[in-house]
Amino acid sequence: MNNLCVLIMAAGKGTRMKSAAPKVLHQVLDKPIIDYVIQNVLSIGIPPENIAVLIGSGGALVQAHIVKQFPAVKILWQHEQLGTGHAVKSAREWWKDYANLVVLNGDLPLLKPESLKELVSCCGKDDCTVITFNAEDPGAYGRIIRDNGRVSIVEFRDATEEQRKIHEVNAGCYAFRVEALQRVIDLITDNNAHKEYYLTDALGLMNDGGMSAGAFIMPEAEMQGVNTQKELAEVSRVMREEILSRWLAEGVRMPDPSSVYIGSDAVLAPDVVIMPDVQIWGKSIIGQGSVIGSGSILTNAKIGMNVNITAYAVIENSELKDNAKAGPFCYIRDNSCLEPNAFAGKFVELKNSHIGEGSKVPHLSYMGDATLGHGVNIGAGSITCNYDGEHKNKTFIGNNCFVGSNTMFVAPVELHDGAATAAGSVITQEVQENALAVGRARQKNIADWSLRKHHNHSTAKTEGEK
Ligand code: UD1
Ligand code: CA
Repeated sequence: MNNLCVLIMAAGKGTRMKSAAPKVLHQVLDKPIIDYVIQNVLSIGIPPENIAVLIGSGGALVQAHIVKQFPAVKILWQHEQLGTGHAVKSAREWWKDYANLVVLNGDLPLLKPESLKELVSCCGKDDCTVITFNAEDPGAYGRIIRDNGRVSIVEFRDATEEQRKIHEVNAGCYAFRVEALQRVIDLITDNNAHKEYYLTDALGLMNDGGMSAGAFIMPEAEMQGVNTQKELAEVSRVMREEILSRWLAEGVRMPDPSSVYIGSDAVLAPDVVIMPDVQIWGKSIIGQGSVIGSGSILTNAKIGMNVNITAYAVIENSELKDNAKAGPFCYIRDNSCLEPNAFAGKFVELKNSHIGEGSKVPHLSYMGDATLGHGVNIGAGSITCNYDGEHKNKTFIGNNCFVGSNTMFVAPVELHDGAATAAGSVITQEVQENALAVGRARQKNIADWSLRKHHNHSTAKTEGEK
């Protein structure tokens, strides 16, 4: 497809959003609008080098985002936003050497890859093809004028009363033969109600110049542009319902889908159960038979098969392997991992920690920068003291270690295989294989202490009364 390039227009001010943030960075579920558009183009096999995003308003923020998420996609600047015609023209140096140019409004997150494919397949047939839809409420969309097979567009504010009654409108997706576009792009003027250079004028100009402009109709549902907060909310709702329906159709069980949120990049296997009030974001993957309990929030979580997350687990950038268990009320983050059959229970936080096969951290513990072997049991209330105010230090706990309740591991420190700690120990030194570490003050009992306390108390009182 090297004769084709795609220009995504995202330089507009987005005035109607009434927000300081650039329009295309507003989020639909867990991602900015622009990500959906770029991913859509990539998904039909267009190489990133052939894709450019035109930025301007709030451009520095948009650029920083795109460079991070889609480093191979080209960034072009439109320093002054004088309309969509001006936008395409200001990118001419980039597209002029391709045979075909597809132009997309940057605010169409619901557009489907199939529709985009169809638009691309129109390249070369007409000099210009646009996607249209029949809008229930055509609002301020550009109206499609069909006249003996010739298609042109009139913007709402420039349309006559009669033209405003037309329901077929311009979606903002165009395929141009570059040679034809070159012949008309300089002829577009700002002589209209908006005082803007309209890309949509290119069609009429092509007709006038003996070139051909065509259009095909797609379902309205995909073509909703985001111009206002209300439209953003509506698009988010549609996106969310589409995603939920897709996973239900794939065999995921959800007793109450109306309370569940799943982002578009998550992947769920059949027989996954998603309980009410769950959110699943980012590139999360959930394996067959796993149950995600109520109130859990997963972001970039890799969940194996038959994992049981009872309820209220927050899991970020971490992995739970087959048959692992977590929750209720745990926080697992920053590259932590539960190996098969491992368990992180009630009020447990894991940070950058690796819990070996079958090991258990059942209650009230913090494991930070810790590596646990297999068969380890961590007593309630035990924590790693991993941060000395300057550095994060590591704790190693070998296979089959038994950690007494309320043990403090002052890292860096290591327990070798089979070692144990006495409850309440502060562990500051390495513990040898199979040894017991007792790191606490020896208990001392003071005989008759209570009696003496009472006696002292009553004499003090008598003295005072004198
Ligand atoms: C545009 C179309 C309208 C169509 C509608 C579909 C024009 C003149 N009108 O109207 O026919 O029905 O989309 O949603 O094109 N942009 C720039 N630079 C600019 C101006 C805009 O990059 O100077 C970008 C915006 O960021 C946006 C896209 O172009 O992503 C469309 O601009 P917008 O202002 O939303 O156009 P609409 O008024 O919606
Ligand atoms: Ca728009």
